[in-house]
Amino acid sequence: MSHLICQGVSVSFETPQGGSFLALSAVDLEIASGDFVVALGASGCGKTTLLSCIAGFLSPSSGEILLDGKPVRGPGADRGVVFQKHALMPWLSVVENVEFGLKMRGMARSERQRIAHEKLEAVGLSGYENSPVYQLSGGMQQRVGIARSLASNPEVLLMDEPLGALDALTRESIQEIILRLWAREKKIVFFITHSVEEALFLATKLVVMSPSPGRIVKTYNLGFCNDFIASGDARAVKSKPEFIAMREEILNLIHSTHAESMPA
Ligand SMILES: Nc1ncnc2c1ncn2[C@@H]1O[C@H](COP(=O)(O)OP(=O)(O)O)[C@@H](O)[C@H]1O
Ligand SMILES: [Mg+2]
Repeated sequence: MSHLICQGVSVSFETPQGGSFLALSAVDLEIASGDFVVALGASGCGKTTLLSCIAGFLSPSSGEILLDGKPVRGPGADRGVVFQKHALMPWLSVVENVEFGLKMRGMARSERQRIAHEKLEAVGLSGYENSPVYQLSGGMQQRVGIARSLASNPEVLLMDEPLGALDALTRESIQEIILRLWAREKKIVFFITHSVEEALFLATKLVVMSPSPGRIVKTYNLGFCNDFIASGDARAVKSKPEFIAMREEILNLIHSTHAESMPA
């Protein structure tokens, strides 16, 4: 059972004028295995800054992040990251991309290929192992990125708008793939989006953020993802009256907090 805690995490950046800018203010968040946490908010509210702190790419200016009781001091194989731009290596095949990290860690070829095939099957890409990645569609490339991050068996999967560049249909089908993976692997997932519908569909815990300074304004515990896991019918879940009512509530919240933070 993994446990990730953010305690009073603040990040300030220096401005070109010599001042400082508070990108993230006193974020408290507790996440356990099996939680699917979605951070939702307009651009500039500190979502990527928070993810970068959890990933260990950035040190908080104050506060602390603990994974299983140990302070996060830098990147590690216990946290896998998926970005909007997948950053695959175009000169390698699909399977070579997925096994790359394992190869760097010195794992034997047969073992890393077994793992890579298993993860590619989990994202629905069996049969594409030897294709060059540049021949794949954007959605398939993003699935290779997800398989790659799963290959090192991280405790935490950090996803920064991984579906943001995809068309609506592909985006919905990959949401379903991600939920099935989550239900099977029971990892901690921290997922960023600015789509309210995507956030509601995926999250067990939805964290609504607001800018100036970037902060959490409200947290919701949700179960629409579990309804999908039980029924397999995404459209039915997304058209439930409770889902639609929650979408309106969150849109209102985002609009009201965003308006407050805008200069008059
Ligand atoms: N390295 C940096 N230096 C200065 N300002 C930054 C840096 N990274 C992010 N910011 C600023 O911090 C705020 C939050 O950024 P970010 O976390 O990327 O927001 P989001 O991912 O929610 O769009 C933004 O105003 C952004 O311009
Ligand atoms: Mg961002």
